[in-house]
Amino acid sequence: MLSEGDPVYILDGSGKRYWFRIQNDMMKVPGLGVVDAGRLIGRLDGSAVKVAGRDFFIFKGGIIEQMSSLDRGPQIITPKDAATIIFHLDLGAGDVVLEAGVGSGALSIALLHAVAPTGRVITVELREEFAQKARKNVERSGLASLWDLRFGDIKEVDVSTTVDAVVLDMPDPWLALNNVGRFLRPGGRFAGYVPNTNQVADVMNGLRERGYQEVIALENIQRSIESHPGGVRPSYETLSHTGYMIFGRKTAGRDAAESG
Ligand SMILES: C[S@@+](CC[C@H](N)C(=O)[O-])C[C@H]1O[C@@H](n2cnc3c(N)ncnc32)[C@H](O)[C@@H]1O
Repeated sequence: MLSEGDPVYILDGSGKRYWFRIQNDMMKVPGLGVVDAGRLIGRLDGSAVKVAGRDFFIFKGGIIEQMSSLDRGPQIITPKDAATIIFHLDLGAGDVVLEAGVGSGALSIALLHAVAPTGRVITVELREEFAQKARKNVERSGLASLWDLRFGDIKEVDVSTTVDAVVLDMPDPWLALNNVGRFLRPGGRFAGYVPNTNQVADVMNGLRERGYQEVIALENIQRSIESHPGGVRPSYETLSHTGYMIFGRKTAGRDAAESG
């Protein structure tokens, strides 16, 4: 059932989405005009609705639709890579994650979704203009109450708390390893995201030099499949490269080893 406050989208026959959060009121929806949103409350998710004489379906926005329809600034982490990052970081409800930088907030939304309803994401961002766009995107997700966006340089910021996981999507993550290592708990998980293989080497070497274990790097290749009357084949529009992911686990250090 649709409720007040739900992030929803109205889908037209061509696949175009119109986003808004349901209020018990008349609402102006960009591209659609004024919608009597109050009458949508209590309708089933996936209901057929008529707006301005046109036929649509209305759906609650899930994480995958939210990530694919953001107001974009810098290059975002796509759902296929975000899903892999979340799984490798073993994130679940209640976890606390330290992230940098925010970009368009795509990964922030995916991380928030993974740690909700009791966890927290602390995102450190250097540039105000990216943070503004990202804030709008995160607010639309309905998860902003779990988000702690801070301005600063992840290479030196003091977040004054211990975190379960760290994710860095920035040009030179290896230069932030000393600082983020101060906050990551023993056994905690690290993820780095970079577009070039020389950066992969720098992150892997940096993790190993600091004693991280199970350091691995991987890339996801995902192809969309199209079905036409003449046959079924991979889409010509498949993204050939997004980014490389590097993972590792922090240890408690040799000093903590039990003797005997
Ligand atoms: C590629 S974007 C991140 C995209 C984001 N993961 C997403 O999915 O939308 C890289 C971001 O890192 C930020 N950044 C670069 N160096 C940084 C630093 N030292 N500390 C904090 N943020 C930094 C940039 O300003 C930019 O917003």
